[in-house]
Amino acid sequence: MAVVTLNGLTKRYDRAHPAAAEDVDLEVADGEFMVLLGPSGCGKTTTLRMIAGLESITSGTLSIDGRVVNDVPARDRDIAMVFQSYALYPHMSVRDNMAFGLRRRQMPRAEIEQRVRDAAEILGLSTLMDRKPHALSGGQRQRVALGRAIVRDPKVFLFDEPLSNLDAALRVSTRSEIAALHRRLQATMIYVTHDQVEAMTLGSRICIMNAGRIAQVGRPMDVYRMPADTFVAGFLGNPPMNLIPATVTDAPGGRELRFGPNRVEVPAARTAPLEAGSAVTLGLRPEHLAPALDASDSAALWGEVVTVEPLGAETLVRVHLPEIADPVIVRAPGESEVAIGDRIGIRLDPSAAHVFHADGHSMTAAHHQARRG
Ligand SMILES: Nc1ncnc2c1ncn2[C@@H]1O[C@H](COP(=O)(O)OP(=O)(O)O)[C@@H](O)[C@H]1O
Ligand SMILES: [Mg+2]
Repeated sequence: MAVVTLNGLTKRYDRAHPAAAEDVDLEVADGEFMVLLGPSGCGKTTTLRMIAGLESITSGTLSIDGRVVNDVPARDRDIAMVFQSYALYPHMSVRDNMAFGLRRRQMPRAEIEQRVRDAAEILGLSTLMDRKPHALSGGQRQRVALGRAIVRDPKVFLFDEPLSNLDAALRVSTRSEIAALHRRLQATMIYVTHDQVEAMTLGSRICIMNAGRIAQVGRPMDVYRMPADTFVAGFLGNPPMNLIPATVTDAPGGRELRFGPNRVEVPAARTAPLEAGSAVTLGLRPEHLAPALDASDSAALWGEVVTVEPLGAETLVRVHLPEIADPVIVRAPGESEVAIGDRIGIRLDPSAAHVFHADGHSMTAAHHQARRG
């Protein structure tokens, strides 16, 4: 078993720059698949390297199974790490690459052979054991790198963007293999990626980072349904949530939002009453919008089509709304007959609307929390 606990974990490379990771609090449960997700430079690799013991910790504590390991060297942490670059030894066979770490630890020969054979079996590498890395595809090389981690039977697996060097099709299949590997090994895994699809499909939970800090931690669909702030709302989802600057009207109840000539009445379930006249951000996911079928639809937002992207199963339509700078993205059906320049109505599902405070935090998530007690 392995529980990994980060407590106020902070890394400052130098005084001139802000901390690369700041005050990171996170508990990864035994057997959990935790994904660290965020844009390039947000501190994911730094955090992972502190867990691995490859980077010193500026402040805070890192514990494994309740024992503080800040000063325990990497080789004694019982953690295996898989990198984006496979870092295989070019002159060694697949077998030797996988066995190398165990030989160095002077494990008995029979046991090494058994472990290498088992890992090769799991990863479908059994017929490639005598090849050198140059004679393998990118996907096979990454599997050897995985195998090298598996044979160690570590307490914790760490992955740093392991699929980034693979082409799109291979990324999808290797992603499923990693998911299957987690189901099979039931080991604690911490996985870094900037790819929200990997995060959504692999993670038991996702930890979204922004500029060195945690923005939100939760199960993928919970975070998707209730993003804590505009950063998370704009990062998770493809295309991302539409974020529309709006003003609260003076209407009684204080839940009507105005942006240009358009108005939306946000249901009481989605936010507490808002302060009249205040500036907020209205969040609408593209899948909760649809072209209005009836041209006289009074419940629709009206705007002009600026781009149309037919993707087969769906069509992404960008619509310019009056007085709103960024076009709104609508997920329309695959065979939509919409053309650039059309004036269209957009129907929306107000029960799925989000409202964000001027500082970015979600009033909808706060309201949701408060109502649940
Ligand atoms: N060895 C280093 N020395 C100085 N700054 C670094 C070093 N490694 C990373 N950084 C900086 O720390 C921040 C976080 O980097 P990193 O953890 O690699 O982000 P991510 O993996 O999320 O892309 C970035 O601003 C990066 O430039
Ligand atoms: Mg990185």
